[in-house]
Amino acid sequence: MTPRSSPGADPGEGAHADGSAELDLGAAPTAAEEAELAGRGGRLVDTGADLDDRAAEAALRPSSLDDFVGQRVVREQLSLVLEAARRRGRAPDHVLLSGPPGLGKTTLAMIVASELGRPLRISSGPAIQHAGDLAAVLSSLEVGEVLFLDEVHRMARPAEEMLYVAMEDFRVDVVVGKGAGATAIPLHLPPFTLVGATTRSGLLPAPLRDRFGFTGHLDFYAPDELEQVLRRSAALLGLELTGGGGREIARRSRGTPRIANRLLRRVRDWSQVRGSGVVDTGAARAALRVYEVDELGLDRLDRSVLGALCRRFGGGPVGLSTLAVAVGEEPETVETVAEPFLVREGLIGRTPRGRVATPEGWAHLGLRPPPGAVLQPTLPVLGEGRLHGGAVDDTT
Ligand SMILES: Nc1ncnc2c1ncn2[C@@H]1O[C@H](COP(=O)(O)OP(=O)(O)O)[C@@H](O)[C@H]1O
Ligand SMILES: [Mg+2]
Repeated sequence: MTPRSSPGADPGEGAHADGSAELDLGAAPTAAEEAELAGRGGRLVDTGADLDDRAAEAALRPSSLDDFVGQRVVREQLSLVLEAARRRGRAPDHVLLSGPPGLGKTTLAMIVASELGRPLRISSGPAIQHAGDLAAVLSSLEVGEVLFLDEVHRMARPAEEMLYVAMEDFRVDVVVGKGAGATAIPLHLPPFTLVGATTRSGLLPAPLRDRFGFTGHLDFYAPDELEQVLRRSAALLGLELTGGGGREIARRSRGTPRIANRLLRRVRDWSQVRGSGVVDTGAARAALRVYEVDELGLDRLDRSVLGALCRRFGGGPVGLSTLAVAVGEEPETVETVAEPFLVREGLIGRTPRGRVATPEGWAHLGLRPPPGAVLQPTLPVLGEGRLHGGAVDDTT
């Protein structure tokens, strides 16, 4: 494990007064990422980035749209938005990027700035807890600068309202004085482009969402796209990657480039220590066995949740907290870390009475469901998320 700072240790971390050297640092760690890290306990297949990842990712990030693999639709739409703005000599519309972690939102934000040849400022929703924090960032923007706000859904409400005006009218109203004598002094901003990223577009207030001229939704990558990501990364890392090695890693990467790149680094380690140095099928299989990542990309926690559900509770339905106790984890960890992927892969389902294993879930463990087992979820995932008091998560 690499050392890491505690969640929220420095709420100002994402805000940068001088905006210098941002591109060299990779993504600024956001509070959510830190929180995710704290709960993750070093899972190899986690979608969040740890410090190790951030250093490696900075080196692997594509810096132009042409280099960005997959996401054909978003890439084409975005390239039109940018090209049109370039021709008009104006800052493009504000851009919202939504989608699960590790799919390339931060990368695309950086690409927007570099394609426009404009400076990039990076901050994040959790770093902006007061309207003043946002006013400081906005008032120091240069003409045409790209402001990247990661996790834009987690901004404090007063700041959000300030952002509406800034996005629409390029103005910040600075309130001077208190009570009846308070006056708002309008401060005009240079035109800028906001790139917002969110893993939970469902949590974004409509007035904010509406102010983005373009929304790109990033989806999980197909295995052949991940192979392409891996080939590119291997070349950058100076690694010899065989077709079989790439396929094997891509298959277990949960549709997520961040995970693919991380697994590649671990297979490289294995290959350099125990193998020939070449990342081939054998190295990938052997290394991922050591790290307990199975053929579908499930790790030990995922398998123990699925295993408990089938073996101890006859396939369910069983409540989240009971299931969590059975695997010795916090309900929160099971719900946010293991479950989304298990649900997405169709291995488990959520019902009003609890979690159930699907036929695919049983099959993945090499087991047969007992007669009479409840096998199908009866409610959509979204509504059910609310029942359990968790935030609605559009990523599941
Ligand atoms: N389309 C892509 N092509 C190549 N590499 C990608 C792509 N999308 C993501 N990556 C890699 O995955 C890593 C995580 O991407 P990032 O943009 O930080 O994801 P997000 O901000 O959505 O969590 C980066 O290091 C980047 O190199
Ligand atoms: Mg990011």
